[in-house]
Amino acid sequence: MTAFDPGIHALRRERFMEQLGAAAAVIPAAALTTHHADCEWPFRQDSDFFYLTGFDEPDAVALLLPHRPEGERFVLFVQPKDPAAEVWTGFRWGTEGALERYGADLAHPLDQLQEKLSGYLNGAEAIAFRIGRHPAVEPLVLAAWGRQLDMYARSGEAAFGLVAPTPILHRLRLRKDPHELARLRDACRISAEAHELAREMTRPGMRESEVQAAIESHFRASGARGPAYGSIVAGGDNACVLHYTANTAPLQDGDLLLIDAGCSVEDYYNGDITRTFPVNGRFSAEQRELYSLVLAAQESAIEMVRPGGTAENVHNTALRTLVEGLVDLGLLVGDPDGLIERGDYRHLYMHRTGHWLGLDVHDVGAYRLGERPAELETGFVLTVEPGLYISDRLAVPEGQPEIDDRWKGIGIRIEDDVAVTDQGHEVLTHIAQKSLAAMES
Ligand code: GLY
Ligand code: MN
Ligand code: MN
Repeated sequence: MTAFDPGIHALRRERFMEQLGAAAAVIPAAALTTHHADCEWPFRQDSDFFYLTGFDEPDAVALLLPHRPEGERFVLFVQPKDPAAEVWTGFRWGTEGALERYGADLAHPLDQLQEKLSGYLNGAEAIAFRIGRHPAVEPLVLAAWGRQLDMYARSGEAAFGLVAPTPILHRLRLRKDPHELARLRDACRISAEAHELAREMTRPGMRESEVQAAIESHFRASGARGPAYGSIVAGGDNACVLHYTANTAPLQDGDLLLIDAGCSVEDYYNGDITRTFPVNGRFSAEQRELYSLVLAAQESAIEMVRPGGTAENVHNTALRTLVEGLVDLGLLVGDPDGLIERGDYRHLYMHRTGHWLGLDVHDVGAYRLGERPAELETGFVLTVEPGLYISDRLAVPEGQPEIDDRWKGIGIRIEDDVAVTDQGHEVLTHIAQKSLAAMES
């Protein structure tokens, strides 16, 4: 169990409020959702709410009120203690826990939100609320603001607008603090261990689902919540379907197995790793060529991860290595610059090389700032995940060679999670091996 440290969340709220100016923020927790009849999905907290509060119960609402005096700036509305309800759905911290454990200045039962919201928002220059995402809370925020506007003639006070908290908040979330980096290291270690186990156990004739079960069993046995996203365990040609999650096919002797799986730990930080290896422990000549190429692309791209670099440059580096290699192998023809400019490689490599990683697997934060790609800074964490997918699902672009059958059904991706450090980078997933020799062991 991770030690809960309220000071970490308090510091984040301070930083957030400094940038909010005199706007009051309304940040709702996630709601429980049902999948059929009255069966609920496992609860997944809203990442913005969790980042600011560490509070892990549904339907709560946090108010951050920089316009209020010290001691009234962090208000939590929560489900109150209720023994009868807790018999069915488990422990709640209630308003007492919100104050004592989670550091709220003031706490109220959730059913008082409607009545109390206007009062707390009065005097704020603006209301920071993410519209379109929180259907239960949005009408209350709009009604509170509407009341301020109705009363303006008498009070002379009304928020001048609804503003978005997310650009500020997501800029903060993009740069991981030391606590977050430690939690990401844990998520990446457990995820990497599962990949090592999966490679050791895989034999021809097993089903993809057996390997998935071993991976996810390791996640749970290690204390993680479970998979961070639908695990992809894709033998042979299934690996060319980027979001293949059925995981039902038998593993064939002679095929590769692509596994894209990572866990989400107790406080939601995620690992996201892909490894690809031969089901029978030996690469064919074509598999070896393509694996070596993807590995070279990935390693050259990881080298670009450093302060002052950009995610765009990481992608371009991987892409350039892949395209040059594909030309050498005869799978593309022409000058690499022209191929890249025209996108004539996209039937073989159709996705970007990575994304931010954190509380969300595809984490928040801008990749571009207007015309310019965002510069990498110490504390940013991103995945580096080039791949090649050789199948006949997509048309070969005009002027490019038809694909010989010997290459088809090969799908390869290699994905690591990489933190930007002062010195350059740290590969958080390093214990998942990826050398040619290791993939054959
Ligand atoms: N597993 C999701 C991704 O790699 O982006
Ligand atoms: Mn990824
Ligand atoms: Mn992945």
